Amino acid sequence: MKILLLALLLLSHNVFAEPYAKADAMAGKSLIEKNCISCHASSFGGDGSAIYTREFRKVSTSKGLVAQIRNCNTMLGLKWFEDEELNVAKYLNNTYYKFTE
Ligand code: HEC
Repeated sequence: MKILLLALLLLSHNVFAEPYAKADAMAGKSLIEKNCISCHASSFGGDGSAIYTREFRKVSTSKGLVAQIRNCNTMLGLKWFEDEELNVAKYLNNTYYKFTE
């Protein structure tokens, strides 16, 4: 039984390939709502999400997304841990960027 479960896990991991597999997108959502959106909204209007979908957006890979989040984290002095950065990355990826690897 354990082996079957393990096989299923491995299989589903391959079928639903995604970066940041272990991260928690809902935790990321609340982190970003609390710390990040107001500034994006004031420069890009609305809920600020246009910053992630604009034509010449900066981020083009899942690694680049984490790097950008880390820069903002450092710049703002938020002292997020790596798992928090990954939670935010997962939320943004699921919602806007849709990188698959
Ligand atoms: C003080 C204002 C400000 C705050 C606060 C801020 N950002 Fe940003 N963010 C910007 C600006 C301005 C850009 C666009 C930079 C550019 O175009 O070179 C940006 C760009 C980004 C991008 C890249 C969008 C793209 O082009 O693909 C991401 C991702 C991002 N921010 C995440 C965050 C996260 C996560 C936080 C919270 C930790 C955060 N930002 C907080 C101003 C801010």
